[in-house]
Amino acid sequence: MNYRHIYHAGNFADVLKHAVLARLIVYMAQKDKAFRVLDTHAGIGLYDLSSEEAQKTGEWVDGIGRILDTDIPAKAKAILQPYLTAVRDLNPDGGLTLYPGSPKLTRMLMRPQDRLSAMELHPDDYETLHRLFDGDFQSRITELDGWLALGAHLPPKEKRGIVLVDPPFEIAGEYERLADGLAKAWRRFSGGTFCLWYPLKQGAPIAEFHAALKALEIPKMLCAELSVRSDRDTTGLSGSGLIIVNPPFTLKDELDILLPFLKDRLKQDRHASARAFWLRGEEVRERD
Ligand SMILES: C[S@@+](CC[C@H](N)C(=O)[O-])C[C@H]1O[C@@H](n2cnc3c(N)ncnc32)[C@H](O)[C@@H]1O
Repeated sequence: MNYRHIYHAGNFADVLKHAVLARLIVYMAQKDKAFRVLDTHAGIGLYDLSSEEAQKTGEWVDGIGRILDTDIPAKAKAILQPYLTAVRDLNPDGGLTLYPGSPKLTRMLMRPQDRLSAMELHPDDYETLHRLFDGDFQSRITELDGWLALGAHLPPKEKRGIVLVDPPFEIAGEYERLADGLAKAWRRFSGGTFCLWYPLKQGAPIAEFHAALKALEIPKMLCAELSVRSDRDTTGLSGSGLIIVNPPFTLKDELDILLPFLKDRLKQDRHASARAFWLRGEEVRERD
């Protein structure tokens, strides 16, 4: 396990993932009934963007650095509000030093009745995450293989919730594993909202991945993809995607506003592109 999210925290992929995660949580919180967020690949929860590691890549500069405290058109601003408020709340003196990972962002948006279960397998990152949530009875942090949690921890006892699956994609076969993991998890918790993250880069088997997901016959599955540059540059990601199962009914319209804004704001060359479409359910119609 070599992957450390500190090198990538706050980058363009985190912006899309965390903005959407915040929308999913805000939507869940519209009903009083408690919900649980299961975060299978949680990371360390809080990232110091002034650290040597984050400064080394500087990826956040072309991610959250292009968004926070900038002019944003009103509709996109309203959609980004829960996410950006959380980032701002972590930096009360202004500027941008601390950035929330998915468990921290989740925790900041939860209400007293809600719960977080987060898994992290890297021993050092687990220790850091565990320390961050020390004494917080609403959060359970476990040093466990997140793929196993998709079986063992579902359905949650609240019977409502969000499952975020955000693997590092450092070994071959992760797209297949993601589709298989969703199949297993959905059988146990078909009413849950699932959010799966995947990278877009040269040679990635995206068509096969989408086909495998479609074959699962899960009724409602939305896809959001954002590429910030051509995939001819083989160093690192050119973009990222999210699969959202059982999305809030408002999410597609929100993505249709958010994605064009993010594409314009985060683009690194003229090949940037974005799309949101139903893989299954609603109007199944692919568009670019
Ligand atoms: C992309 S990062 C997570 C970022 C985090 N979800 C966020 O948005 O802030 C992936 C994390 O998964 C951890 N990891 C890798 N394999 C794992 C596994 N099998 N189970 C749980 N965690 C794992 C890595 O150590 C890494 O911290």
